[in-house]
Amino acid sequence: MPFAIQLSHASPAAVDSPLLSIVMPQDPTLDPALRDIDTALGGAIARSITRRDFRGMRDETMLFVGGDTGAQRVLLVGRGSAPLSRAGARRAAAIAARQAGKIGTGAMHIMLPDADADAIEGLALGAAAGSWSYPDLQTQPAERERRARLESVTVLGADTDAVREAFAAGVAVAEGQAIAKRLGQMPGNVCTPETFVEVGREIAARHGMTITVLGRAEMEAEHMGSFLCVAQGTPEEPRLVALEHRGGAPDQQPVVLIGKGLCFDTGGISIKPAPEMEWMKFDMMGAAGVMGAMEAIGRLKLPINVVGIIGSTTNMPSGTAVKPGDVVRASNGKTIEIINTDAEGRLVLADLLVFAKRFNPALAIDAATLTGAIVIGLGHNAVGVFGAQQSAVDEVLAAGKAAGEPGWPMPLWDEYKEQIKSDVADLKNTGGRAAGSITAALFLQEFVDGYPWVHLDIAGTAYSQTDLGWIPKGPTGTPVGTFVEIARARARQ
Ligand code: BES
Ligand code: MN
Ligand code: ZN
Repeated sequence: MPFAIQLSHASPAAVDSPLLSIVMPQDPTLDPALRDIDTALGGAIARSITRRDFRGMRDETMLFVGGDTGAQRVLLVGRGSAPLSRAGARRAAAIAARQAGKIGTGAMHIMLPDADADAIEGLALGAAAGSWSYPDLQTQPAERERRARLESVTVLGADTDAVREAFAAGVAVAEGQAIAKRLGQMPGNVCTPETFVEVGREIAARHGMTITVLGRAEMEAEHMGSFLCVAQGTPEEPRLVALEHRGGAPDQQPVVLIGKGLCFDTGGISIKPAPEMEWMKFDMMGAAGVMGAMEAIGRLKLPINVVGIIGSTTNMPSGTAVKPGDVVRASNGKTIEIINTDAEGRLVLADLLVFAKRFNPALAIDAATLTGAIVIGLGHNAVGVFGAQQSAVDEVLAAGKAAGEPGWPMPLWDEYKEQIKSDVADLKNTGGRAAGSITAALFLQEFVDGYPWVHLDIAGTAYSQTDLGWIPKGPTGTPVGTFVEIARARARQ
């Protein structure tokens, strides 16, 4: 059975569920609406709170086992002392859903006393995210040893338009993130550039979007020598996919989302060291994020024009691969000296940024797992946000914050450009170790022609190498939430 999530306006006392999850703040009191449920458990919830066994600390859980009717199990989940937010509700709901999966309850109801619309959105998103998995490549245990997957979530919320709308948004973002995470978790031999074409066609068909697909020959005709030099070492057909959601007036300039889609990054001739190279299957999370965002924007039928563009290939060493010292020409005519073939993401994005110009963007935002340096600078808790136009940067920072995918501004000063000057070409593709994320962003800027642009370096945030409790090891869903939030905010204006 596929995953289903629904909104209910029922009171918690009326709920008949194998699991009722209740999200509580730090140092909680028992909400009057929960008295009947507590009574059915012999007062165990109230006692746990007065004894301070359960304190509502962030990520804290306590499970109560009830009878055969009503709330058959009750799970308290703490959300800590921070003010109620979408991200806080999302995190607690994800913890609850993962717990439900471990117990094998199959279904779950979830509530947060006094939830506003934003909290409901967080609950919907978190519950769906916490039930996500990618079981396709693993043999499942025998029926009697198996724990039921969480396949049905009911969010309890107020009967208002604002709550219904927020719930729908949470579900749409969750579905977009599920698409992105699935693409990410797929190994490099399963998720290929062709997979982006297939997923793009599905999204386009579902939501009535226009799709354009370019292969090697079409890209040659467009003189995309920068993108193509990365694809030179692989027999796999490189793909550029563009999806157009036309929800706004025909003459409205679109928001253009652009994603780096390296299905695997070996580094090419400048090959990466073997340890942990397998994580480079996630080097397509920018492109996956664009696909996921287009799905969510299509589902929400946002009354705005949005274009999603991805560039996908695999960076491989081979007899035909591009090599250090080679000079290539991008589609805007600029020449690039390849210093390090492992700085391939910016080469793909360069031609995508030139391609984006034909859509006359109101704003273009690219997302890329672009540099290891951003992981050194910001770690795993902030997206690196680069842009020359302050209002555009502020818009993206606000969207990221609301979506629970926070970013942090990085400088794009001209002074750093010295580092990417070449002796033989217009530009070098690397600028040395110092300020590696900034010189990468400045390289991209050379291909932006006259439209507002923001670059997101998501190398530290698009996937996690450890289990974070609320997010399992693997893809996080970033930057789908940020992209969708930008489109929603613009659609509201
Ligand atoms: N895909 C990598 C960046 C990356 C590193 C993503 C770690 C996620 C985790 C990118 O293509 C790359 O290899 N960048 C190089 C650039 C260098 C050669 C200038 C890097 O960061 O080392
Ligand atoms: Mn690389
Ligand atoms: Zn890469």
